[in-house]
Amino acid sequence: MHNFLLTTSLGLESLTKHEVNKQGGTITEVQDKAIYFNGEIEMMARMNIWSRFGNILYYVLDTESQLTDFDTYFDIVFAQDWKKYIPRGFAVMIKATSIKSDLGATSTLQALAKKAIAKKIVGEKYLDEDDRLGKIEIRILMENNTLRILLNTSGIGLHKRGYREMTGDAPLKENIAAGLVILSGWKFREPLYDIFCGSGTIAIEAAMIARNMAPGMKRHFAFEKWSWIQENLLEQEIKLAKTKEFEGEYKIYSTDIRHDIIELAKRNAKFAGVDKNINFGTQDYVTYLRRELQGWLVSNPPYGLRLEDANVPKIHEDISELLKKNSNLKGGIITAHTDFETYSNTKYKKRKLYNGGEMCYFYKKEQN
Ligand SMILES: C[S@@+](CC[C@H](N)C(=O)[O-])C[C@H]1O[C@@H](n2cnc3c(N)ncnc32)[C@H](O)[C@@H]1O
Repeated sequence: MHNFLLTTSLGLESLTKHEVNKQGGTITEVQDKAIYFNGEIEMMARMNIWSRFGNILYYVLDTESQLTDFDTYFDIVFAQDWKKYIPRGFAVMIKATSIKSDLGATSTLQALAKKAIAKKIVGEKYLDEDDRLGKIEIRILMENNTLRILLNTSGIGLHKRGYREMTGDAPLKENIAAGLVILSGWKFREPLYDIFCGSGTIAIEAAMIARNMAPGMKRHFAFEKWSWIQENLLEQEIKLAKTKEFEGEYKIYSTDIRHDIIELAKRNAKFAGVDKNINFGTQDYVTYLRRELQGWLVSNPPYGLRLEDANVPKIHEDISELLKKNSNLKGGIITAHTDFETYSNTKYKKRKLYNGGEMCYFYKKEQN
């Protein structure tokens, strides 16, 4: 058995927990933004390609070591099999975090870890590091005097699926977009509308969810360069994931007022392999106000923090009216414009989420 930590965004923990379970991991602990689990080594590749809601998948080297002094800390770090874990010549990046612990000086924790690793590998003070060969990121987590040593198996955050070459203004993180689709309760055979689609993130994530496509199949992961991991592990998991994909007929509508942005969204959808599943169009949202809509609205209107020039209150009043008028329109919007819920007597279920550090709410219309 191997121990892992999958980090996520605040508000997505329950969804992340569910996807770990679904892929066969055994959850051992859940904290804010953190799901600890164990499983076979295959889970390293499987969770990296399958996680829709996670940020980074860490391999946990040492758990549960209680300590309050630097000598013990040094010895525990030194005791790890660094020759196995660190590819020869790789740059070693160490980041320490300390919460409610006697050893609170994170710069000392980092410096001592580096020293312990160098001593273990070369028996000297300095490692021979060349970041052109690659780098390995080690996280030291001290929490309530418990030490955890973690290896970043993902590399860059898992929300970066690799399909979004470029974005429009104020893009949603892909894991947040995927979260909205699930939280909305969208039924895949029903229409789904994103009427402020920007780079198309919500529609693309929705199509991938509906088709059961693993979101990480188009990117690379840090662990691919680790010699202690069986070479074809990722390949095998990708092959398996491909057998689980399916085609279907979907009614996903993704529109934005900017034509250039729609062209970009189409390109992103093509990279993601779901362009045939989405109807893109250049359209002002006001055209929807004149139509009868049924199905699901999952959208991210301009809310003023980054798109100053849009008429934010008016747009939110109109969306509120749209949701009220169309009794068969479910779902809702993600926004930081908290006056939204005051614009009509429509009842919403609110979920606090963070998009790149910005606090927003997903307002999901309550069904009668
Ligand atoms: C917050 S961004 C959406 C970002 C998107 N979720 C993404 O991941 O890229 C809001 C979008 O609303 C669009 N927009 C602004 N006014 C609009 C209008 N009147 N009708 C339709 N779209 C509009 C902007 O062009 C922008 O792309």
